[in-house]
Amino acid sequence: MIVPVNIEHLEDILSIEKQSFDKPWSDIHFEQFLTCRGPLKSVVYLDNLKKPVGYLFGQIYGSFFYLQNIAVRPGFRRQKIATKLLDYIVNQSRKNRLNKIVLEVRANNSAARRLYEKDGFKPIGVEKNYYTKGTDAIVYELEIE
Ligand SMILES: CC(C)(COP(=O)(O)OP(=O)(O)OC[C@H]1O[C@@H](n2cnc3c(N)ncnc32)[C@H](O)[C@@H]1OP(=O)(O)O)[C@@H](O)C(=O)NCCC(=O)NCCS
Repeated sequence: MIVPVNIEHLEDILSIEKQSFDKPWSDIHFEQFLTCRGPLKSVVYLDNLKKPVGYLFGQIYGSFFYLQNIAVRPGFRRQKIATKLLDYIVNQSRKNRLNKIVLEVRANNSAARRLYEKDGFKPIGVEKNYYTKGTDAIVYELEIE
């Protein structure tokens, strides 16, 4: 089940974040996201026990959705949870009459790049040394019809 993120999900989100990234977002960063208002910000995937096992954070900027963070708990990966989160946000973006979804991903994150490409995202550019020196970002875009 996919639902909007709320403060009760935060503990699980932080635990997944720490297991997923070398430089995890802080609890303050997530809290700031949760307190700023606006449609279509962030969603969480709940398992059968209603526990968060994946999430997607992003924001609307003008006519597009900027996807800033997506992760799935390690034991739940390769079950299409990230694909479902992406598809959910694509449908919501369409309903909100947005025309595209934009994101950056580390050039060496092949799992995430395959996920996006399988979902129809196209690489549109490279940001040199975007993360740290020597770590480029690939910019991806999905046009919404
Ligand atoms: C990237 C991530 C979100 C994918 O989540 P997921 O729920 O496992 O992804 P899905 O099951 O929806 O995978 C869809 C497709 O993506 C590709 N993919 C996903 N994980 C992959 C992996 N480890 N290796 C190769 N391809 C992979 C596959 O093509 C997969 O389809 P398939 O399983 O039929 O082959 C997850 O691995 C993760 O949380 N990684 C750490 C955080 C991260 O890097 N986030 C992205 C930041 S931009």
